[in-house]
Amino acid sequence: MTAQLNPRGDVAVLVPAAGAGVRLGPGRPKALRLLAGEPLLVHAVRRLAAAPSVRTIVVAAPAADVDAVRELLAPVAPVTVVAGGAERQASVAAALAAVPAGPEIVLVHDAARALTPPDLVEAVAAAVRAGRHAVIPVLPVVDTIKEVGAEEVVLGTVDRSALRAVQTPQGFRRSVLTAAHAAAGDPLTDDAGLVEKQGVPVFCVPGSEYALKITRPFDLALAEHLLSAAG
Ligand code: CTP
Ligand code: MG
Repeated sequence: MTAQLNPRGDVAVLVPAAGAGVRLGPGRPKALRLLAGEPLLVHAVRRLAAAPSVRTIVVAAPAADVDAVRELLAPVAPVTVVAGGAERQASVAAALAAVPAGPEIVLVHDAARALTPPDLVEAVAAAVRAGRHAVIPVLPVVDTIKEVGAEEVVLGTVDRSALRAVQTPQGFRRSVLTAAHAAAGDPLTDDAGLVEKQGVPVFCVPGSEYALKITRPFDLALAEHLLSAAG
């Protein structure tokens, strides 16, 4: 059944989904790979559409798959689909340009984080609504982290207590994200990085284990297990 988005919602979500999925191994673009019989992108969009503040969803699809992605998502939720770019940052910029007037909170969410709970979407949006200009969900780093130099020689041990692993959705006041992308230089792997370069403070909120980024085959297997365990 097609989910309705909230016409009074104040949140637009951009979904970069144009990556190849090289680290997942040969096959379709990652967002179209199957997890429990459905493409990762379908899982991701269904959960975004279940978040009550979401009014608009814009997906950046692989250029060759824009029409196929439109058809794929039509039964899931009302979404706008645009062609992504060669880098994630270009895909986000293309999606941002397609957001209609209205929503003043913009979230950026990787299609690859297919199991992200709607509650996390709401928590990030709520922090922006409460006045933060930029918000990222994070988890503590659990492994000991070493800095390594040439020939894999350890240079030192990094203080783990000051480190966080960063997830999506990342949330922004719309004007802040627009200005950061307009000023963007070399491509970065996340949008908060662009905002940091503008000198805007970025705040952390607790992330979710379920927001893991499906990157390698092990992650896909883990996601299958999580879904089957959830019934
Ligand atoms: N992405 C995108 N456009 C790109 C590259 C990435 O929209 N040119 C999206 C991916 O589709 C994914 C998210 O950005 O939803 C995070 O990127 P990543 O996990 O690195 O996905 P891929 O780039 O597809 O994977 P890989 O790096 O292994 O090729
Ligand atoms: Mg990538």
